[in-house]
Amino acid sequence: MKILNKETLIDTGGVRIGKLEILSQDIALKARPGQFVVLMTSEKGERIPLTIVERDLSKGTIKLIFQEAGLTTKILGAMKTGDSLYSLVGPLGHPTEIKKYGKIVIVGGGVGIAEIYPVARAMKEAGNHITTILGARSKDLLILENELKSASDEFYVATDDGSYGRKGFTTDILEELLGKGKYDLVYSVGPIPMMKRSSMVTRKFNTKTIVSLNAIMVDATGMCGCCRVTVGGKTYFSCVDGPEFDASLVDWEELTKRNRIYDDKEKHICRLNIT
Ligand SMILES: Cc1cc2nc3c(=O)[nH]c(=O)nc-3n(C[C@H](O)[C@H](O)[C@H](O)COP(=O)(O)OP(=O)(O)OC[C@H]3O[C@@H](n4cnc5c(N)ncnc54)[C@H](O)[C@@H]3O)c2cc1C
Ligand code: FES
Repeated sequence: MKILNKETLIDTGGVRIGKLEILSQDIALKARPGQFVVLMTSEKGERIPLTIVERDLSKGTIKLIFQEAGLTTKILGAMKTGDSLYSLVGPLGHPTEIKKYGKIVIVGGGVGIAEIYPVARAMKEAGNHITTILGARSKDLLILENELKSASDEFYVATDDGSYGRKGFTTDILEELLGKGKYDLVYSVGPIPMMKRSSMVTRKFNTKTIVSLNAIMVDATGMCGCCRVTVGGKTYFSCVDGPEFDASLVDWEELTKRNRIYDDKEKHICRLNIT
């Protein structure tokens, strides 16, 4: 689990996004778009899930992109080329169903852009027409723009502050596109409010929409129940039943509340360890 390469993609002082290339022949061999790994930085560290963004079969490596959110991602951000992770498990979760749908809109917000990249590439290779919409708070926080452009037939960017592309939200562009033409699938990954709003928009046009949920995970093998989500009135474990679900059926209020469960403790632990 050696880190062969560590890059900082974004460092604005407030926001840091890093990229790791990790040696793991077995995971590289089996990984499919939509799947993730769970890693630990040290023996006493917590387990965190991160999406497998790319794999390189010739080198036996996988690439992960992560935003520093709290303690574990900050520790990960401080690791260097040549360091080793304590543990790495994967690939986990169901892969995305890659097939020819026809016209697909792929929406990525914030670090969710890293998660849509492997799906956009695979869907394009499967012969779909890909329209990509990327969203970020401002231009300096946008990642993988060129990579996603080359996987897309049509490409749009929205920034909250209007510093690049259209001023506004990805879902404004989504609504306009769906109002003008028929699409066969929408795939949306990003902050919960963005995925929830995507679902509200696509419901109006009756367009099937898949989201990848970022429920809090612990073991990620279906044993602990931490990643419980309600979809269509039924309980699922996001790690083994997902992480992708039909957006129109997700109980967004419950997911939002559950993702805040440990907020106070995380801030406390983060302060103790960082200061
Ligand atoms: C399937 C899946 C794929 C993900 N892929 C990516 C990715 O490619 N890049 C990326 O930057 N982030 C990704 N995330 C989110 C990432 O796991 C969290 O940012 C990370 O766990 C935060 O840990 P922390 O200790 O640094 O921050 P904390 O301070 O512990 O948490 C910050 C926030 O992150 C979430 N979080 C915390 N612990 C977990 C956990 N064990 N599982 C899930 N969410 C948690 C909570 O909403 C919390 O409020 C993914 C999450 C899931 C479920
Ligand atoms: S993380 Fe424990 S059941 Fe999904």
